[in-house]
Amino acid sequence: MNKPRVVLGVCGGIAAYKACELLRRFTESGHDVQVVPTASALRFVGEPTWAALSGHRVSSEVWESVHEVPHVRIGQAADLVVVAPATADLLARAAHGLADDLLTNTLLTARCPVIFAPAMHTEMWEHPATRENVATLRRRGAFVIEPAVGRLTGADTGRGRLPEPGAVFDACRRVLARGPRALEPDLAGRHVVISAGGTREPLDPVRYLGNRSSGKQGYALARTALARGAGVTLVAANTELPDPAGAEVVRVGTAEELREAVVKAAAGADAVVMAAAVADFRPAGRAQGKIKKREGVDPEAVALVRNPDILAELSVRRATPGQVVAGFAAETDDVLANGRAKLVRKGCDLLVVNEVGDGLAFGTDGNEAVILEAGGAETRVPYGPKEELADRVWDTIVRTLESRGDQQPAGG
Ligand code: CTP
Repeated sequence: MNKPRVVLGVCGGIAAYKACELLRRFTESGHDVQVVPTASALRFVGEPTWAALSGHRVSSEVWESVHEVPHVRIGQAADLVVVAPATADLLARAAHGLADDLLTNTLLTARCPVIFAPAMHTEMWEHPATRENVATLRRRGAFVIEPAVGRLTGADTGRGRLPEPGAVFDACRRVLARGPRALEPDLAGRHVVISAGGTREPLDPVRYLGNRSSGKQGYALARTALARGAGVTLVAANTELPDPAGAEVVRVGTAEELREAVVKAAAGADAVVMAAAVADFRPAGRAQGKIKKREGVDPEAVALVRNPDILAELSVRRATPGQVVAGFAAETDDVLANGRAKLVRKGCDLLVVNEVGDGLAFGTDGNEAVILEAGGAETRVPYGPKEELADRVWDTIVRTLESRGDQQPAGG
């Protein structure tokens, strides 16, 4: 069998050294890698290192080996192009279709999946110019990995670090495994609504009843939906994650606020995925001032009232014909039995059931789950990155939308 051909683009950033480890992972697992560094990348890690680790000649200009037409051949022959680290400058050049060196030429000639793993200072990552460039690239079907938070060049810390090579490698393998399907924007023209995070129900101005949801699974759903071509409204409850470029993000605090935002956004949506952890109860009253302890007086019990069940409501009142409604169920015991009963009770089309508890699901980067469908199908998704589970959820939703014969996206 032919080895998968990977082009590793490397830009001029301090994280270029991490690309050496990424390259080793590729070659050690049977990939054929052509490294295409930019001229400034070579100031960080030299040509001999890339050549020795890849086993191929390395150049960054279009003027070398011109008879082999490298600026066209390398991109055309690739099964995957990954740029790690991708600087703000490279993202801008790629978004605007410039072709002023070998890497940007390669990006224009590649017809395979393209992954960017950005690394830069937080200010550069958050700048509107970079946000727009990332949104443009995602809209065109490129996969842009969110940078990690941590130590940056120099003394500062923040979002902008290149994720660890293992994480970039896993993302590449997932895209390679989907083959040409990775390029199918099967949610193009669709609008989807995703809720993420956990609601907080105030007791007084400083305290609330909340839960441990980080929002990572909902954000992974948003990023993967964007990569598959969807228009995305993300209703985020109390999360600290960066907005996925290209998504409309609505921030909410309580279950009531989340309900209002989701119901409004669902009006024109093809699918709604309730990944948020919604508090079932809220304090019956909210103290105007901070609740004080009083010596010798027992604390008062907190009276609770029910919050609306948003998922059940969305399932009963479909906003558009054929709309797909999906929920998540976090369970600690009898996971599948509880999940099956909940699917029926809520009346949704699919329910993603996962086990939660110490060290499971909440706040982690990975998840395992079973996707239960109203028709009885059950798909087990083994432990893996939250993006992996998100892609399987979208696979199921796309299949459901198509089986309803609803070829016409909502609003279209
Ligand atoms: N959910 C909702 N509104 C609520 C509670 C939950 O829309 N008031 C949604 C969640 O977003 C999730 C699904 O329902 O998609 C299941 O959430 P979960 O907390 O597991 O279910 P509960 O309804 O709380 O059921 P139980 O109390 O029996 O665990």
